[in-house]
Amino acid sequence: MKTYLVTGGAGFIGSNFIHYILKKYGDSIRVVNLDALTYAGNLSNLEDVSGRDNYEFIKADIRDAEAVREIFKTHDVDVVVHFAAESHVDRSIRTPEVFVETNVLGTCVMLNAAREAWEKEDGGFKEGKKFLHVSTDEVYGSLSDPGEYFYETTPYAPHSPYSASKASSDFLVKAYVDTYHFPANITNCSNNYGPYQFPEKLIPLMINNALKGRDLPVYGDGKNVRDWLYVEDHCKGIDMVIEKGRIGETYNIGGHNEKENIEIVRIILDTIQELLTQGDDRREMAQKSRIKFIEDRKGHDRRYAIAPDKISSELGWKPETMFAEGIKKTIAWYLDNEEWMERVTSGDYQNYYDRMYGAE
Ligand code: NAD
Ligand code: TYD
Repeated sequence: MKTYLVTGGAGFIGSNFIHYILKKYGDSIRVVNLDALTYAGNLSNLEDVSGRDNYEFIKADIRDAEAVREIFKTHDVDVVVHFAAESHVDRSIRTPEVFVETNVLGTCVMLNAAREAWEKEDGGFKEGKKFLHVSTDEVYGSLSDPGEYFYETTPYAPHSPYSASKASSDFLVKAYVDTYHFPANITNCSNNYGPYQFPEKLIPLMINNALKGRDLPVYGDGKNVRDWLYVEDHCKGIDMVIEKGRIGETYNIGGHNEKENIEIVRIILDTIQELLTQGDDRREMAQKSRIKFIEDRKGHDRRYAIAPDKISSELGWKPETMFAEGIKKTIAWYLDNEEWMERVTSGDYQNYYDRMYGAE
């Protein structure tokens, strides 16, 4: 029975990934979810799987070498799927050091613990072990020419403290592959959207604000471009790399779905109009007049765009959910889960929001 150690499994992509593999492999696998439950981690994302015999949650911090080592001692881990990270660019601009501690030092702790548990006496590694490091396309920097894309061979050029910390962690993983022949893969994915995403990121923030009749804060001229992928398609790509990816390789994941931020905000407003019936207060409140162009993010990357040629040709990955369908599913999920949104925004979120955007 294969055991997956998923770090950051209570976050947005991690919880979607746990749902994905438990649905796909059922009781034939075991999942251990290691998460420190920061502001971004939420156990209610996993309420439906928490009672299963083949799922276990362990509250621990990836920076805590002793705690992580203990997990490897008590579980025969086959695959590490390393999501745990500080993930929001705006927060990284305010507190870069937290990003270095979690994303760089935390990854180093995970790599050391896996190496210690998996290395044989002859310096080789036990059969069937793999460390999948989940990373971002932001490590490649910013594109300007519309015909340009990020390939696995594109030189790293991170700009924000977030992307710099992710780039550092990628280099650490590459160093373990080169130095110890450590069995790892890296995936660099474009912007994800879907259920359980914390409303500090563009899409859930806009959905939440629109439904509450709040302003819709668009940075700069709104023409920055991101390449959006439905989270389940990302999870499918990670699973394929775990199963079939060549050891030591990097795979870019993205669905060629580039959109300007302002276009995303307009699509969200139109979709809310389509999904809610006339007379619903939330429908009346979600108006284009609420769009407010505000001061630009510092060092704001202009455009990201992934070329997924390698994962498509080598592993047969392709995105299944087109944006028009994915955004409808996502907004429908937020409409059905207003309680979830209330819960995650009830704590420190309001302080964060007021600091970032000013009290309304
Ligand atoms: P998230 O912020 O929603 O979740 C992060 C999770 O990690 C949370 O559950 C949090 O509690 C946990 N965590 C944070 N610090 C920890 C620590 N020190 N110890 C243990 N757990 C800790 O993030 P996400 O959007 O789900 O992203 C997951 C991963 O995917 C990150 O590594 C991110 O860089 C990468 N990624 C994200 C996107 C995206 O669009 N969201 C795109 C590409 C790659
Ligand atoms: P975000 O979801 O933070 O992802 P990332 O910066 O990692 O790509 O932001 C996506 C884009 O949306 C980015 O260009 C910044 C922009 N943005 C806004 O215009 N307003 C907002 O309130 C937020 C959170 C983001």
